[in-house]
Amino acid sequence: MAGYGEIVERARRALVGGVDSPVRALTEPLLVASRGRGPYLYTADGRRLVDYVLGYGPLILGHAHPEVAEAVREQLERGWLYGATTEVEVELAEEILRHVMPGGRVRFVNSGTEATMTAIRLARGYTGRDLIVKFEGCYHGAHDAVLVAAGSAAASLGIPRSPGVPEAVARLTLVAPYNDLATVEELFERHGGEIAAVIVEPVAGNNGVIPPAPGFLEGLRRLTRRYGALLIFDEVITGFRLSLGGAQDYYGVKADLVTLGKIIGGGFPIGAVVGPAEVMEHLTPTGRVFNAGTFNGHPVAMAAGLATLRVLEREGLGRASEAAGILEEAIREALDPLGVEYALNRVESMQQFFPGVAEVRGPQDAARADAKAYHRLHKALASRGVLVPPSVHETIFTSIVHDEEALDHTRRALREAAREAIKP
Ligand SMILES: Cc1ncc(COP(=O)(O)O)c(C=O)c1O
Repeated sequence: MAGYGEIVERARRALVGGVDSPVRALTEPLLVASRGRGPYLYTADGRRLVDYVLGYGPLILGHAHPEVAEAVREQLERGWLYGATTEVEVELAEEILRHVMPGGRVRFVNSGTEATMTAIRLARGYTGRDLIVKFEGCYHGAHDAVLVAAGSAAASLGIPRSPGVPEAVARLTLVAPYNDLATVEELFERHGGEIAAVIVEPVAGNNGVIPPAPGFLEGLRRLTRRYGALLIFDEVITGFRLSLGGAQDYYGVKADLVTLGKIIGGGFPIGAVVGPAEVMEHLTPTGRVFNAGTFNGHPVAMAAGLATLRVLEREGLGRASEAAGILEEAIREALDPLGVEYALNRVESMQQFFPGVAEVRGPQDAARADAKAYHRLHKALASRGVLVPPSVHETIFTSIVHDEEALDHTRRALREAAREAIKP
């Protein structure tokens, strides 16, 4: 195997910016992975990192979970692509429906991006309306309708509206600040009859972590119902993480459509739209709203996803949340003695801290955080064997396999790294 320096050099020559997704380019030094096991990621420059990125969310069982590996191996033995319905695909759909929307329907696609793109097209086709409402700082993937005031890498790189998204398309996306119900109400008063859907991350996880304010999700439910628009919960991150029923269950607010991804593929490419039969059957082939895909329902992703959900059903999500609680304590223990201002938001196994601001309730607060100090801490931690996301706009995740050893190592590294990286 080539050495780290050589791989980086070749990556920079062969791939745009040395990566295939922009947030990866923000890691310092550039992360080149060689393998993963449990809570650890091993790098080509010989480091072992306690991994709190976890593939940006999917790996709630940690790396290379034996039951997922076994399910994938078994599937590979039988071939891996048929262009036909499979039993494993039906089983995963049934499992998802049981937790997320009993009696509903699923359409599997290949990424969270495809899931939200399909859900938005479906909402438009179903309602016969063109406008959508999204929230500043929420990220729903890399397609035109949602690359307006977007979070995640779009926010980290300062390009919330991407060049290449036509003005005519961007005008169809109305934007409100996250947690600001009054603005959504105004948008409905002005454009009510033209709004097909409101799409929201029920916990914003692409602007750091921002929980919904009390009454926010309920208010969106009330307004969408009043004006005949669909409410889309983008649960690509929160699905099977906040609870097996996702944010709908956790907050007790039901959406019309739910988009899923990440965890339900067990670390393989996946996305899904979930909704009531009456709406979903507007999709092809039963309806006329077009969706198709060579790789939709890919058997390997289905097998990995099903194995993952079965482990979560058996073992629960408690350990991921407990590990997150211990990590939260460790972050506070490292930062508090420094006397610097910071906010830390956590919902179960999703969390982020924001140096330089006292609280973060919306995207404007997150934008005021000291992103440079956060990045310095990312770097100082990476040199001490701990990987947190390179940008304050991402989420720190824990898995059900972050054990005492991994967390103890993290606590020690945090204490040293914070002293080095965060100066009062
Ligand atoms: C809430 C949310 N929706 C959609 C997406 C897009 O998913 P994917 O990267 O699989 O296309 C992401 C990705 O991070 C996400 O966090």
